[in-house]
Amino acid sequence: MVLARLWRLAGPGRCRALLLAGLLLLLLREVGRTSHTEPPRGETSGRLPPNVVFVKTHKTGSSTLQNILFRLGERHHLTVAFPRYTYQFAYPQPFAAAFVEPLPPGAARYNLLLSHLRLAAGELRRVMPPDSLYLTILRDPIHTFPSVFAYYRSTVPAFRALANHPQPLAAFLQAPEQYYDPADAGNGLARNPMAFDLGLEAGGEEGGSRWDWELERLNRTFQLVLIAEHFDESLLLARELLGLRLEELAYVRLNARRGGGDEALAPGLAWRIRAWNWLDVRLYRYFQAVLWRRVELYGYTRMKGELEALRALLRETRETCLAGEAAGPEETADELRPWQPDTAAILGYNLRPGLPPAQHASCYRLVLPELQYHARLYYQQYGREMCLGAPTLNKPGPFESSS
Ligand SMILES: *[C@@H]1O[C@H](CO)[C@@H](O)[C@H](O)[C@H]1NC(C)=O
Repeated sequence: MVLARLWRLAGPGRCRALLLAGLLLLLLREVGRTSHTEPPRGETSGRLPPNVVFVKTHKTGSSTLQNILFRLGERHHLTVAFPRYTYQFAYPQPFAAAFVEPLPPGAARYNLLLSHLRLAAGELRRVMPPDSLYLTILRDPIHTFPSVFAYYRSTVPAFRALANHPQPLAAFLQAPEQYYDPADAGNGLARNPMAFDLGLEAGGEEGGSRWDWELERLNRTFQLVLIAEHFDESLLLARELLGLRLEELAYVRLNARRGGGDEALAPGLAWRIRAWNWLDVRLYRYFQAVLWRRVELYGYTRMKGELEALRALLRETRETCLAGEAAGPEETADELRPWQPDTAAILGYNLRPGLPPAQHASCYRLVLPELQYHARLYYQQYGREMCLGAPTLNKPGPFESSS
């Protein structure tokens, strides 16, 4: 019965062939499992982490938290709700339950949902257990917008006309309306990108008190909204919510853009970014205040002490795992190179050579870029390669080259 359902859902042609191969693999894996070391789901520690929906916003540092949650999922053999095609839930369409890959055989429910989507909370509740925790992350629009602009300059229609301009961001912000058509669905990230990801109709002009109501609604949806500029504080709040050990918070900053950290904005640009992205500014300020209230309740002294411990752990992790600082695509190994847009260089890491096997395994996961980690977990969960609806990896996958 499950098989028949899977078969119908696997869709036409190549995916069905893969499904067959996958089932075979899964079977072999199950047979193998009984005879050796892999602990059954949940046996790695006494208590399972709670179910989590992480609404992964664009260019906000969200890949770093996603990696922490991927590792958590892998350690506990949690069931991940994956998109049926590619790495995103049919973005920029609003999320729908139908975008989710069916449960793998034997699983009763999903535990984690971590891929890019445009928020539609009602549809998420149809997929994820009612006790799921909802998390997301916001970043100062002053940084988010230039980052979105650099990353999507050749894909978002409103930015495309400026792809070859010597000062494209300044030119866009001089006269954004000239380039921006709010009716074009592809322009979701071109104005108030974070509000767009959170499902708000963010393309229009500033207006009115209905946004207060929308922000309050989001505050009820999310148990925690992390703030990128206070990532470590946010992470410690997340730790309490998820019941994690401090060591489970180890991270390196993933998917950063070369030059992104130290780029000074031309005079006047900050003001224009805020004016154009007025709803993101309101969203950010609202949740920044919510975060500081949370830190206050958590206790400043307790927070300060834990921050010190966390930062020591992060230093130690970098020293143990990394061969050096974050490196450009020309310097990283193929399997550890993040996906590269053609308008920005995205940094990755090289591992310290000669790590003992156990350490290598944990360091490898720490630096594994989003698409690679996603594909890896998908394979572990379904015993087959994921179906790519469109070519998304920098290397052609098995499907692109065969069709
Ligand atoms: C947001 O929600 C929290 C409960 O999670 C509540 O304590 C807080 O007052 C809310 N903040 C605002 C600004 O409404």
